[in-house]
Amino acid sequence: MGLAKTALITGANRGIGQQVARVLATQGWDVLVGSRDRKKGDATAARLRKDTGGRLRAVELDVTSDASVATAAQKLRDGAIRIDALVNNAGVYGATTRGPGGVERTLETNFFGPLRVTLGVLPLLRDGATITNVTSGLGSLDNLDATHRRLLADPALTRDTLVDAIREFVRDGGTGWGADAYGVSKAALDALSRVLARELAPRQIRVNSTCPGWVRTDMGGRNAPRSVEQGAASVLFGVTTTETGGVFRDGKRIR
Ligand SMILES: NC(=O)c1ccc[n+]([C@@H]2O[C@H](COP(=O)([O-])OP(=O)(O)OC[C@H]3O[C@@H](n4cnc5c(N)ncnc54)[C@H](OP(=O)(O)O)[C@@H]3O)[C@@H](O)[C@H]2O)c1
Repeated sequence: MGLAKTALITGANRGIGQQVARVLATQGWDVLVGSRDRKKGDATAARLRKDTGGRLRAVELDVTSDASVATAAQKLRDGAIRIDALVNNAGVYGATTRGPGGVERTLETNFFGPLRVTLGVLPLLRDGATITNVTSGLGSLDNLDATHRRLLADPALTRDTLVDAIREFVRDGGTGWGADAYGVSKAALDALSRVLARELAPRQIRVNSTCPGWVRTDMGGRNAPRSVEQGAASVLFGVTTTETGGVFRDGKRIR
């Protein structure tokens, strides 16, 4: 990989993440296709290389695993890779998140995942890089009870307080916040974007949440009103924006 900018996208083997990878490769970025399944990542990178003529390669990355994130970061370091844009796109919703362990899986993937990956690759991020956390309308603070809405909206909220609160939510079996695990995971992710934006400002690293809207993917289903192209375009705003600490859909601040 050469002088081009480099992006790492988690969960890029299908859905919105794959489309984000496709667009960035088309625009000349070097793209690291994060995928928890090595074979699926390789297949996606190969297909997108063929379709776009761009530079893409797979990185095995399970966002719920400290070991997986550490191994991926080490491999990138060994390859002298520096990252200009991190897109924390991997997420779970629906059937796979219901039943025993569902609350933990949802929070581990959608909230702790972006935090784990961000901290894991932080030394590889260039000053001035962007971090884009893919959120959802279901993460609106309006869906939470007053106590937790206040907690997440508090301008003085720290990372430790946020992490402790989410650990407690998981321990309590996903009850007591007024919203389900998915809604809490995305509301907490938005708060994390704000907290990290403040923490990383000295390095001019911008951190935002972007919402794709309701999109026709495996997750969104075939009745969703938006195409994967529209959803990815909304996410991609975070890659190039000069804003930090906000939540955006289609380039407009929504929270
Ligand atoms: N679609 C919508 O309507 C919608 C609306 C609002 C927000 N979003 C958000 O947009 C993002 C992408 O959604 P999508 O619609 O593209 O979903 P999708 O089609 O279900 O794809 C999800 C992606 O996340 C990956 N993933 C799941 N768990 C992972 C883990 N532990 N480690 C690494 N990757 C993991 C999946 O990999 P595998 O193939 O290995 O499972 C897959 O690549 C998510 O954060 C979602 O919450 C989607």
